[in-house]
Amino acid sequence: MSNLPNSIFLIGYRGCGKTTVAKLLAERAGWTWLDADAYLEEKFALAIRAIFAAEGESGFRDKESQILREIARLTQHIIATGGGIILRDENRRLLKSAGTVVWLKASAATLWQRIVGDHTTHERRPDLAGGGFDEVVELLQQRESLYEQCADLTVDTEERTPGDIADELWHRLFAT
Ligand code: S3P
Repeated sequence: MSNLPNSIFLIGYRGCGKTTVAKLLAERAGWTWLDADAYLEEKFALAIRAIFAAEGESGFRDKESQILREIARLTQHIIATGGGIILRDENRRLLKSAGTVVWLKASAATLWQRIVGDHTTHERRPDLAGGGFDEVVELLQQRESLYEQCADLTVDTEERTPGDIADELWHRLFAT
């Protein structure tokens, strides 16, 4: 295996499959997977919802950047990031320098379907702009160019299973 990346960072909107794909790809590669949001919650002993309630979005974003600076030092990890990690320029630069960045892309309609299908998501994730399908459309519009800018590789996840996506990534990143 040549040109092996340090770590692989999965970026994309909520519902794109980052955590599931991270687990599957790590299993296949014999690497370790990490969910950056779960790590943040563990580190600060607070749920994301509670951080938003106490400190607002900017307080959460500060913590998110702090965690990223820490996990950017890891090697041979497949890392699922939070959907808004690309909002700060410093985060985008750090992601790009720390490893290979993969954007798991999907349309607003598909993401919304998956979010609605996951009953735990509303308990775990605060609304950011009014909620519902309109929020997905609005935030995706704001973020798509940032995901694109940050990504070394983009994978279209429409009508594909996480297993299928992990397979594609395995072939493109490891089986050389
Ligand atoms: C956010 C997405 C969430 C979490 C936080 C903010 C966002 O992560 O980081 O609620 O701004 O899109 P997931 O993408 O894992 O749901």
